[in-house]
Amino acid sequence: MTEVLDLGWLSFEQGAHLLLRRALDSLRPGEHLAVTGGDPALLPHLRAWCRNQGHHARSVEDEPGIKAHVIRGTADDDRWAGAERAGRPGPGGIAASAPRHWGLAARGALVEPGGPEAPFDLTDRDLVWAEVAPALYRHAASAQWDPETAVAWDAEFTLPGEIEHAVVQVMTYLVENEQAALVIPARLLTRIHPHFREVMQLLAVQAADEARHVEVFTRRALLRGDEMGTSSAGGRHSLATLLTEPDFSLASFLLSVLGEGTFLNLLDFLETHAPDPVTRQATALARRDEARHVAFGVAHLHHLGTVDPGLRGRLRAAIERRHDALLDTAGLNSSVFDSLVVLAAGAWTPEAISRGWQAVGRLQSEMDDGRQRRLAHLGFPADEAAELSRLHTRNFM
Ligand SMILES: [Fe+2]
Ligand SMILES: [Fe+2]
Repeated sequence: MTEVLDLGWLSFEQGAHLLLRRALDSLRPGEHLAVTGGDPALLPHLRAWCRNQGHHARSVEDEPGIKAHVIRGTADDDRWAGAERAGRPGPGGIAASAPRHWGLAARGALVEPGGPEAPFDLTDRDLVWAEVAPALYRHAASAQWDPETAVAWDAEFTLPGEIEHAVVQVMTYLVENEQAALVIPARLLTRIHPHFREVMQLLAVQAADEARHVEVFTRRALLRGDEMGTSSAGGRHSLATLLTEPDFSLASFLLSVLGEGTFLNLLDFLETHAPDPVTRQATALARRDEARHVAFGVAHLHHLGTVDPGLRGRLRAAIERRHDALLDTAGLNSSVFDSLVVLAAGAWTPEAISRGWQAVGRLQSEMDDGRQRRLAHLGFPADEAAELSRLHTRNFM
């Protein structure tokens, strides 16, 4: 028996096609559906819709209460004839290479052919991926903190002028470096095919992390005065070489593995030697975020190393290229170095300054150890890791 769909007074300008499509979905191609309804324009609209959707409609005059018969076509809609799935939704459904015509389609969506070619140039999974990316993104999203409430801005403390000055100088330096660390992932993420969405999301949160670091270090610098410290040409030269690295994996290596890896030690040092609670809290919060940034960089490079035997050669070349580019620059701002010594000294006696000097020396060798460890994890033999670590920028980032 032929099924009857009664559309009542509902017209095709008010959504009648939804009821019709639902009724046709339960039929097999070639089966009939009887349609009736009171809308005066029912028949012309029904015929036009069916033609467009690949069904056949014919009007009926000799059946009481029936206006038309619809024969279900073979395809719901010719538009979808050449459609393809953009992988499957979960991380397990990620394609090795994402075609540009998938564009901004959600992973796993049925993609109608004929759309624009998207401008993303990082379309190969291995060039951006790390297995830990989805978990790191979830962790990053849950670990966001509010600069307003996470730091006790009104904590009471008084510092001698020279110590406050040293804090302001270090904060000024940190802000400069944090701004580089914000811009680089933000630029890279616009090039990643959104099919690899967890990496895109992770880098977006990473940029948001850096935005908070810029905020808390700026606020600490201006907490007791209205003047920032100095920015050296050498420091900015060092950061400029990071900004201009076009290769995703090399940029991730130089910024996250070597630069932010080195910063983990610096932030740890500042937390330990902070002369006030605000500096201590701000550096501790930033350090926790930085550990995630380093973890992704290391995991990505490790992943890429398993599929690209030439990777270590390229990493080495990137370090050497950067070292050569910075050869005639001063590296770390000497005022920053002196400020670190003063913070670790805590007093203006020869003994205290000597202790501060030694503490900064230990910091530098801890930074070196950390870089060597990460380089060894990426497969560099110990002697080569030591040599490459020494070529790292004196600006730390
Ligand atoms: Fe940061
Ligand atoms: Fe970072």
